[in-house]
Amino acid sequence: MLGLIDHVGVAVDDLDAAIALYGGTLGMPLSHRETIEEQGVEAVLLDVGDCHVELLCPLAVDTTVGKFIDRRGPGLHHVAYRVDDIQAVLETLRERGVRLIDSEPRIGIRRSRVAFLHPRSTGGVLTEIVEPHGAVH
Ligand code: CO
Repeated sequence: MLGLIDHVGVAVDDLDAAIALYGGTLGMPLSHRETIEEQGVEAVLLDVGDCHVELLCPLAVDTTVGKFIDRRGPGLHHVAYRVDDIQAVLETLRERGVRLIDSEPRIGIRRSRVAFLHPRSTGGVLTEIVEPHGAVH
């Protein structure tokens, strides 16, 4: 059902410093940068093989990621799994009693379709499923 780990989301309060760390010190190629108004973040993807680290910098304090950093400080935010058919996976998870933050997919980075599962249903780990743009199913 879950194809692979697509990315690990990291909440940051200083995007330039985080890019210097991940792109410079850790040597990951920067592959994408995008402001996602709907999610209230500026996001950066860095390549790790076929997977990514997704840096999330809040556009304002009162956004989801802004509140997260306010409560817990910068750090690991979510794990995202790649799926072929997000609608089907959401339906299966719903049937299995998983609490969903997004009952319908929404548009994520690079025009992917994404949905978040509630950490209360996933052992405290905020979990995202992502169907890449142009996925065939
Ligand atoms: Co993500």
